[in-house]
Amino acid sequence: MAKVLVVTSGKGGVGKTTSTAALGAALAQGGEKVVVVDFDVGLRNLDLVMGAERRVVYDLINVVQGDAKLPQALIRDKRLDNLSLLPASQTRDKDALTEAGVERVLNDLRDRFDWIICDSPAGIERGAQLAMRHADVAVVVTNPEVSSVRDSDRIIGLLDSKTQKAERGEKMDKHLLLTRYDAGRAGRGEMLKVDDVLEILSIPLIGIIPESEEVLKASNVGAPVTVNSPASAPARAYAEAARRLKGETLQVTIPSDRRGLFGKFFGRRAA
Ligand SMILES: Nc1ncnc2c1ncn2[C@@H]1O[C@H](COP(=O)(O)OP(=O)(O)OP(=O)(O)O)[C@@H](O)[C@H]1O
Ligand SMILES: [Mg+2]
Repeated sequence: MAKVLVVTSGKGGVGKTTSTAALGAALAQGGEKVVVVDFDVGLRNLDLVMGAERRVVYDLINVVQGDAKLPQALIRDKRLDNLSLLPASQTRDKDALTEAGVERVLNDLRDRFDWIICDSPAGIERGAQLAMRHADVAVVVTNPEVSSVRDSDRIIGLLDSKTQKAERGEKMDKHLLLTRYDAGRAGRGEMLKVDDVLEILSIPLIGIIPESEEVLKASNVGAPVTVNSPASAPARAYAEAARRLKGETLQVTIPSDRRGLFGKFFGRRAA
């Protein structure tokens, strides 16, 4: 049965769009039929990260308003046959997304895909609530810093109260994705420790994505990092997170500061 997954965070700029593209591609690379849906009306970033910006003709709002049929708006990924994108509109008014319209489009997508991954806008207002409203499962993207963790905590509260699942009295499946994790800074106490984040948020951890320039490189060439450099540390972490989403049990390893260790070793020799 199709699953609607929302990638959400509260705080902006923590890696939702990056994670939507990477998890979507990783699930597709594993054989699942996936569509990533951009709910960030007005900003429209997911198409850039997926390298599809020049192919956008119709968008989610066109489909919600009945100006285009769903297949007209869906953009098939250049590299992965079973990955599609439903883009957001860059210009239109955010209020054009109605709850009933979104529900209709998501139900339509459920018939065509195994996974529907909704990239939420930042914040806790209407746009973020619409993106999570019909979700079956949530990935809460958090950076190991106080403001991000605090906003994630608020988002968890909304997931447990404002979604259709919550209204039906069902439990929302929530997973924590810790992104932009810098082992060196964590070691120096400049960032929250993984255990501290887990203790505050107390939802299961689905992965730790290291801070890596590979993410920026991939975004610059318009490809999810799991496609652009599949052997890189962030790509491997995303691929494992995707397998956990499918129900596999794999231990999460905390990225270590290999460069730091090497640096220390080297430093000692040089001294
Ligand atoms: N693991 C990572 N390592 C390095 N840079 C990263 C990583 N993850 C994300 N970034 C960078 O952080 C920035 C913000 O990422 P992204 O756009 O995915 O966040 P977002 O949560 O979708 O933001 P917004 O709330 O504005 O939608 C981007 O420049 C992205 O390339
Ligand atoms: Mg985004």
